[in-house]
Amino acid sequence: MMRAMTSASPSPAAPSAAAAPVLEARSVFRLRASDGQQVAIVRDVSFALRAGEFATVMGPSGSGKSTLLHLLAGLDKPSAGQVLVAGDDLGSGDEERRAAVRRQRIGFIFQFFHLLPDLTVEENVTLPLRIGGQSLRRSAGRIDSLLDLLGIAHLRGRLPHALSGGEMQRVSIARALSTQPPLLLADEPTGNLSSKAGEEVIALLRSVRDKLGTAILLVTHNPRDAAAGDRVLFLHDGALRNESEMRGGPFGVADVFHRLSQLGI
Ligand SMILES: Nc1ncnc2c1ncn2[C@@H]1O[C@H](COP(=O)(O)OP(=O)(O)OP(=O)(O)O)[C@@H](O)[C@H]1O
Ligand SMILES: [Mg+2]
Repeated sequence: MMRAMTSASPSPAAPSAAAAPVLEARSVFRLRASDGQQVAIVRDVSFALRAGEFATVMGPSGSGKSTLLHLLAGLDKPSAGQVLVAGDDLGSGDEERRAAVRRQRIGFIFQFFHLLPDLTVEENVTLPLRIGGQSLRRSAGRIDSLLDLLGIAHLRGRLPHALSGGEMQRVSIARALSTQPPLLLADEPTGNLSSKAGEEVIALLRSVRDKLGTAILLVTHNPRDAAAGDRVLFLHDGALRNESEMRGGPFGVADVFHRLSQLGI
């Protein structure tokens, strides 16, 4: 797929091999000072996500889910270990290059949407394209399809304050996908939604994966959300319990509850 690039933004190297995972964590640690001691908030996390995979990460509050996701997005730096996105090490190069990798390869969605209140739905969705210097005219057809896929085409002229929570989250998903990233990271995207709106958002994420082939890593403490993934990874005290991973989803919610009780989390 061709991508418009601006001369101002340094372009990350092309993916080194088609077979490179879209996301790979290699023995990632994040230490923080607490009461004068260094505490590992994320401990020795290793896993890989293939193109088009939909994986979820479950863990109790404080287990390090958001910290891990920020490390994977290049928004924070590991104390040790590496994060690779489409074969590219986020730790190499300067901040400008990391920002270019983030902009071109990673979409991020948050629990609290983070839409800009003075911009319309369409302006919010196309903002990453404008920041990246891409032509809005050339992307118009694709953005129309994206708004259709997320069921928000009729809302394109509205301001965020006139949207429901579920609609705001769908707008933020469209914004995250506007640059066609191969990877979407989501931090508790249903945490601020009603149960019904949350279910709709999860179903939309599955159809995004099916139709666009985007790999998705979704962090949640909601077993129902986790059950929608092809894989469920369990984080406890900052460490992934790889041996406990569930594969072959979507799962029944009861299966996820059962595994959680086996793990004692
Ligand atoms: N900026 C920070 N400085 C110090 N400690 C932090 C910081 N951010 C997070 N922590 C600590 O790191 C641990 C993991 O936090 P994190 O926010 O990653 O957990 P989480 O699994 O996302 O929790 P939640 O489900 O409540 O969102 C917690 O003990 C938290 O107190
Ligand atoms: Mg969190």
